[in-house]
Amino acid sequence: MINLKVQSAINEQIKKEEYSSRLYMAMGIWCETNGYPGAAKFLFQHAEEERMHMLKFVHYVNDRGGKAQLLDIEQPTADFDSLLDIFEKVMEHEKYITESINNLYEVTIIEKDYTTMNFLQWYITEQLEEENLFNTILDKIKLVGADKAGMFHVDKELEGMAVAPAPAV
Ligand code: FEO
Repeated sequence: MINLKVQSAINEQIKKEEYSSRLYMAMGIWCETNGYPGAAKFLFQHAEEERMHMLKFVHYVNDRGGKAQLLDIEQPTADFDSLLDIFEKVMEHEKYITESINNLYEVTIIEKDYTTMNFLQWYITEQLEEENLFNTILDKIKLVGADKAGMFHVDKELEGMAVAPAPAV
């Protein structure tokens, strides 16, 4: 049976992963309606990836004899200024998620829940990869600045980077 404090902390994290998914969906909508179809495809697929992060936690809690819970989530913003603004916000959000995963890890240390500690390693690695990925994208966007042709190429590149997420197991 899963420790109740750990379960409650994971349920909070499930909420954050669900919010991430909706935030990236909102960003994808902005891109699709502002002439960035490649970035839209990338963000929609990333929204799917966040759902997988959420589902992986859901399965984990349930498999350990607990019960995953869906909590109320706030509406993400739909107002963005530019592609740069979007990816700066993505970066900021991912840093917040990394901090949140680290805090969750701390709960497992306090509660001596070694199994969950082990399970969380996957998320710790994933956050590192995501921060690296978004840093790379941000650098590209900053490099082209206001150059329209450059931005067109960044959009094309983002389309190529949109990979289907692996299923949550
Ligand atoms: Fe679920 Fe983008 O971290």
